[in-house]
Amino acid sequence: MIVSPSVLAFDFANIQKEVERINQSNADWFHIDIMDGVFVPNISFGFPVMKAISKHAKKPLDVHLMIVNPDKYIKDCKNSGAEWVTVHYEACTHLHRTIQLIKNEGMKAGVALNPHTPVSVLEDIINDLDLVLIMSVNPGFGGQKFILNAVDKVKVLKDLITKKKAKTLIEVDGGVNNETGLLLTKAGADALVAGSYVFKYDDINTPINLLKAL
Ligand code: DX5
Ligand code: ZN
Repeated sequence: MIVSPSVLAFDFANIQKEVERINQSNADWFHIDIMDGVFVPNISFGFPVMKAISKHAKKPLDVHLMIVNPDKYIKDCKNSGAEWVTVHYEACTHLHRTIQLIKNEGMKAGVALNPHTPVSVLEDIINDLDLVLIMSVNPGFGGQKFILNAVDKVKVLKDLITKKKAKTLIEVDGGVNNETGLLLTKAGADALVAGSYVFKYDDINTPINLLKAL
């Protein structure tokens, strides 16, 4: 299981210290939530902060763009150290073009689905995707309650990936802990994002190891 702790739950007054905690843990990626206050009702942080994180990060940056017009910012993602870039299906009129933009910059491309968006909208693009991010909360904030329907969506997505012989990874984001994580693992998830669950522990390896072992 790939575990991607969410930077949104960092103590932002001590970013470098927080980055070192992740570097020294058994986590696999850094999950970077970029919000614009338009696509979601919150603003997190932007590319200068991501670039500062990438200077110290020793693991890949898994960037989740919760913004309108993501095409405008794909180069900024590259220049700020992103390895994985995930855009929202709901924010992309020409999704195929956006995915090609990400790949042309040499990054891995993902698509996130809001809780109300069915997996079936990805039927004609799944073979082009390195990752699909199933949102198990409405994006915008950490610490929300897990939406159980996400488990069924993971199963449907797994079936689609198998049917199309795609190599896409399934990642889930929002309200993930050891209990919801177990349901997601059984359903076929490959990667779990966790913010509040990881950072409520002093020793973050405790929750990270629990998730990794699911
Ligand atoms: C929510 C973000 C998540 C968030 C998850 O919009 O996309 O990545 O940090 O936080 P938790 O794990 O606390 O639900
Ligand atoms: Zn996220």
